[in-house]
Amino acid sequence: MENKVYVFDTTLRDGEQVPGCQLNTVEKIQVAKQLEALGVDIIEAGFPISSPGDFNSVIEISKAVTWPTICALTRAVEKDIDVAADALKFAKHKRIHTGIGTSDSHIKYKFNSTREEIIERAVKAVKYARRFVDDVEFYAEDAGRTENEYLARVIEAVIKAGATVVNIPDTTGYCLPSEYGAKIKYLVDHVDGIDKAIISTHCHNDLGMATANTMAGLLNGARQCEVTINGIGERAGNTSLEEIAMILKCHKDIDLMTNINTQKIYPTSRMVSSLMNMPVQPNKAVVGKNAFAHSSGIHQDGVLKNVQTYEIMNPKDVGIDDNAIVLTARSGRAALKHRLHVLGVELDGEKLDNVYQEFLKLADKKKEVNDDDILMLAGADRALTHSIKLDFLQVTSGLGTRPVASIGLDIAGEKFEAAASGNGPVDAAIKALKVIIRREMTLKEFTIQSINKGSDDVGKVHMQVEFDGNMYYGFGANTDIVTASVEAYIDCINKFRK
Ligand code: KIV
Ligand code: ZN
Repeated sequence: MENKVYVFDTTLRDGEQVPGCQLNTVEKIQVAKQLEALGVDIIEAGFPISSPGDFNSVIEISKAVTWPTICALTRAVEKDIDVAADALKFAKHKRIHTGIGTSDSHIKYKFNSTREEIIERAVKAVKYARRFVDDVEFYAEDAGRTENEYLARVIEAVIKAGATVVNIPDTTGYCLPSEYGAKIKYLVDHVDGIDKAIISTHCHNDLGMATANTMAGLLNGARQCEVTINGIGERAGNTSLEEIAMILKCHKDIDLMTNINTQKIYPTSRMVSSLMNMPVQPNKAVVGKNAFAHSSGIHQDGVLKNVQTYEIMNPKDVGIDDNAIVLTARSGRAALKHRLHVLGVELDGEKLDNVYQEFLKLADKKKEVNDDDILMLAGADRALTHSIKLDFLQVTSGLGTRPVASIGLDIAGEKFEAAASGNGPVDAAIKALKVIIRREMTLKEFTIQSINKGSDDVGKVHMQVEFDGNMYYGFGANTDIVTASVEAYIDCINKFRK
């Protein structure tokens, strides 16, 4: 059996389904190009029938990247497949990913169908997709809870129908590693023609077992893994790309390899986290802020004597650059451009000038500007397209006074001003905002995060605001956390469906 593991990245499909993580097409292209540089074999670029935005993104990503196969998701429905084939028309290498639920609960409750009928629908969809492309992947949704004998029948039928890859998702993240590994082995041992297709893992992390399950699948014969950057994805997320890539790199005893250029892992992680406004937990394996930080005395002593005492991988191997140049107010445009390049963002001309001007303003407020700040600035131009913008904000607050805020908004070129008092400075500022924007909207979630330890740091604010029965997610970043909060609220309002 071949020892190459194909890396199928679904950050832009399964990952992007996370509420608040939606990217626009330009941002998706940026991520797709970074995934290409990282060395992924297949990019799942979207679910074209689900929205015009997804359809367009698949088209634009297909034009923008060269080497990876571009994959589009469908249900086992002809119309979905027609639209996916159309969206893939510019892809140099293309794949349609079609499938249907195979567990008894999906068959009964989702489809009100029978096992035999599901096999027929699966076969029909694969044959239909093969009319458009040579590379068709079939997913057996909820395969994790599908009885192995029936799953083997489904997989055998779709391979006969022309599936080139068979995906065995643990959709609910329920399987134990031993169980998932045994499932893959069962298919290897019992499916006629299994050698004509690649078996793929697709594991969710509901019980924290996604990486272990993926490894169990690979050790038992799967040769494709479906993963996301930082493990983002529905609910508790998907298997994280960086964990699988580094397990296979560190474990020389396992004779499996990927095409991943591991030194691009960290910049890719930062880029995805920044564009999706999705912080990476500090203790996240491989890419978390503390992944290589040794704090206990015993560990520090050991590492100083020989790093191998407590470090199983070199931070440089995942692209963490200890000697990264720290940018300050004296850094030039070229240094900023270089740092952005290292982080996977290519900027030139007017765009670079704009980011540089913002960088200088921030560097005036903060002594040292770090990678997260830079990525935040590079992404800040998203707010330029907003029709509602914050013009000014003044807040007085302190012990023994009731906070008061006055705010100025620019709404499609027209200026508005208002003032209000509140329980705290953020409350006062949002009340003032609501004097101008008179809508029934409710703040549902509000988190403030700083990146470094310094009191001069940029505060990042994530908010969820409910309006007209829908939830909207907004983001703001500023060294002034009251301003960052108001920017996050305004970001939500700009997304309201008119
Ligand atoms: O988790 C899952 O089952 C999926 C399929 C659509 C592949 O994401
Ligand atoms: Zn999934």
